[in-house]
Amino acid sequence: MRLFTLPSLLALIAFTSALPASAPPKPLPLLVWHGLGDKYDAEGLRTTGTIAKKVHPGTYVYYIRLDEDGSSDRTATFFGNVTEQIEQVCEDLKQDSQLMGGDGGMRVDALGFSQGGQFLRGLVQRCDGLSVRSLVTFGSQHNGIAQFQICGDYDFVCKGATALIKGNAWTDTVQSRVVPAQYYRTLNDSTGLPSDGYLEHSNFIADVNNERTVKNETYAAKIAALEKFVMYVFEDDTTVIPKESGWFAEVNATSGDVTPLQNRTIYTEDWLGLKKLDEKDGLVFKTAPDAHMELKQAVLADAFREYFGPETREKHGLVQQLGSYASGVVPSLQDPSWWAGWAHELQEAMGVKEYL
Ligand SMILES: *[C@@H]1O[C@H](CO)[C@@H](O)[C@H](O)[C@H]1NC(C)=O
Ligand SMILES: *[C@@H]1O[C@H](CO)[C@@H](O)[C@H](O)[C@H]1NC(C)=O
Ligand SMILES: *[C@@H]1O[C@H](CO)[C@@H](O)[C@H](O)[C@H]1NC(C)=O
Ligand SMILES: *[C@@H]1O[C@H](CO)[C@@H](O)[C@H](O)[C@H]1NC(C)=O
Ligand SMILES: *[C@@H]1O[C@H](CO)[C@@H](O)[C@H](O)[C@H]1NC(C)=O
Repeated sequence: MRLFTLPSLLALIAFTSALPASAPPKPLPLLVWHGLGDKYDAEGLRTTGTIAKKVHPGTYVYYIRLDEDGSSDRTATFFGNVTEQIEQVCEDLKQDSQLMGGDGGMRVDALGFSQGGQFLRGLVQRCDGLSVRSLVTFGSQHNGIAQFQICGDYDFVCKGATALIKGNAWTDTVQSRVVPAQYYRTLNDSTGLPSDGYLEHSNFIADVNNERTVKNETYAAKIAALEKFVMYVFEDDTTVIPKESGWFAEVNATSGDVTPLQNRTIYTEDWLGLKKLDEKDGLVFKTAPDAHMELKQAVLADAFREYFGPETREKHGLVQQLGSYASGVVPSLQDPSWWAGWAHELQEAMGVKEYL
């Protein structure tokens, strides 16, 4: 049974597609999580926000922080329990009314620098009520690190953290307190599999990557639900060892052989939803020039243009608009699948692909 003829449906479309012209669609809010040794109110990070707003005017930028005081926020990049840090960030986001959509949920884009990238991914996987469209990470350590970074001569916070780790990485004291230790990852030399110490004690990365026997299905569902997960690796990165961790690859430390993500069990058995995401073209591997976090503004602007901004051309946008219009007219038409069917037929008939 058809309630509408094609011309009346087309009139509906003319009506709904006229809506955005009167009120320009608002860009999704953007979460930014900075890296180790940085702080949320640093000038460089603010420049990033300024670029985001220049590319998509009206973007609300939320700088993720563990403390309102910048210096304490920096200390929290070295010291703390990452599980608790992510819980705190999730709670903080829920307090910010500017992140809330009309339906009471949070729909955002997310940008992570270095360790902020894998923590942001942890947030995507664990924060109930948070829905992320594009997750973009630069120089992150999605597959952990095999070595700790070298600290600057006078960076005593960094040196303190590194000194604690030495030889004690798998103790609970270190795993609950020293941030980089929580994404340290070691392999068993003879099997090439994650070491027992790592699997037993890693407080963050082993869990968030679903490497243990029991997998968390929510994690996989959340990753598969992303529209894009874009991973940039810096071409000349000598800080992250191995740098291919930024692409979720595995590296044999002895031979230097790199096993790309698609050849790893985490992908083939889809422990984390990465394969599912890849199958809908949502997994993107990118290279940025230069050394770790020596970011060119043009590279950032390109990424923002491509992956952030308003969500109007989203696949189901028109279907939802039609649905909500119809719900005010004919209550029985509220079922979105009915409209999806109609939309498909229309697409076939009219070749209006770009709307659907
Ligand atoms: C999976 O992760 C979610 C989000 O952190 C959590 O609520 C849930 O308890 C976890 N499930 C299992 C089986 O660990
Ligand atoms: C980190 O915090 C979580 C949540 O409070 C806790 O369950 C976990 O045991 C802590 N990790 C360590 C290594 O103590
Ligand atoms: C490496 O794996 C082998 C085989 O499972 C095991 O016997 C050995 O104890 C492991 N070595 C380490 C350091 O975990
Ligand atoms: C890593 O590379 C070394 C040197 O080529 C090799 O002997 C070793 O078997 C490799 N380890 C794994 C787990 O493949
Ligand atoms: C990855 O897997 C493909 C297909 O199975 C294979 O052709 C390729 O050589 C593998 N690459 C590496 C680096 O292991």
